[in-house]
Amino acid sequence: MSDKYILVTGGAGFIGSHVTKMLGARGYHPIILDNLSHGNEKSVIAGTFIKGDLSHDADLEKIFNTFSISAVMHFAAFIDVGESVINPAKYYLNNVFNTCLLLEKMRKYHVNILIFSSSAAIFGYPNNPNPINETHPYRPINPYGQTKLAVENILKDYSNAYGLKFSCLRYFNAAGGDPEGKIKNYKQKETNLIPQILNSVKTPGKQLKIFGTDYPTSDGTCVRDYIHIEDLGSAHIITLEKLLNGGDSTHYNLGNGNGFTIRQVIETVEIVTNQKVNFIETARRPGDPPILIADSSKACRELGWHPEFSDLKTIISHAWEALKN
Ligand SMILES: NC(=O)c1ccc[n+]([C@@H]2O[C@H](COP(=O)([O-])OP(=O)(O)OC[C@H]3O[C@@H](n4cnc5c(N)ncnc54)[C@H](O)[C@@H]3O)[C@@H](O)[C@H]2O)c1
Repeated sequence: MSDKYILVTGGAGFIGSHVTKMLGARGYHPIILDNLSHGNEKSVIAGTFIKGDLSHDADLEKIFNTFSISAVMHFAAFIDVGESVINPAKYYLNNVFNTCLLLEKMRKYHVNILIFSSSAAIFGYPNNPNPINETHPYRPINPYGQTKLAVENILKDYSNAYGLKFSCLRYFNAAGGDPEGKIKNYKQKETNLIPQILNSVKTPGKQLKIFGTDYPTSDGTCVRDYIHIEDLGSAHIITLEKLLNGGDSTHYNLGNGNGFTIRQVIETVEIVTNQKVNFIETARRPGDPPILIADSSKACRELGWHPEFSDLKTIISHAWEALKN
């Protein structure tokens, strides 16, 4: 247990709100900074919420001046890969430039621990065979992935030059929902597959598209690694405590270690919701690798972390509970 102040940027969003709840349960004081461009204040059920923007110096100044921040968990970013291709400036400015502003404010106030939400998107089109471990080459294929890799590189340079201690957590597909049912899903626009399928079930007349049914996988559809939000959260808490206790900067790939095809996800959604999914099969979409699975053995070994909610039915049930009402 700890009474430390932890700044959580983007803490009203999907992942940040769950980690905020877990920080609160562990005795920390989360200070949540979110501009609510995509998050919802109702998702914040622990700590102190501050509506503000990373790019507003006064917002950061107020936080660092008021609270004795021990560490920062940096979730705030734009996350829509497709949009990043159409409007890369929006992504470089928010995901990279605004991260630099945050790092400079941390330097000014001598805060030198940061947990960064990185992504499997830094790896781009994977080498065969999956799963992907931390030594896999970095070859992002879209601006979103480039922004995540750029920040990883900046953190390395800050660590070398200024002694920043960081942990880059590369999430695969964050999924699921609050097992206690306290945090609901308020998202207006979904970019991840499971909530997209669940939304198609919830909204009469909505049809889901499956892009590609001729991939070299067991049923022809793409295989992805879905990691439960609670498992992501526990990795954040463990890595935070490691850094607070003097641990070194590091990177971890975080996934559930099992891949599921899109058809398997659809079948499980039908079991969980007891409703038929309305979908059509269409051609492959450019840039979709057939299989993306994380090798999280480094996190298991070094952090003593293990996914507890790796079963697809549990992941989808929790996501459905968060969404259906
Ligand atoms: N969801 C996934 O599967 C996934 C996978 C890999 C990496 N990530 C990374 O995890 C992080 C969180 O993702 P998420 O799924 O919770 O997304 P999200 O959109 O639900 O949360 C991001 C939050 O950041 C806030 N925000 C954005 N820009 C801001 C700014 N300038 N100032 C203040 N607040 C700002 C948004 O309002 C939102 O609440 C992101 O950095 C994302 O790139 C997510």
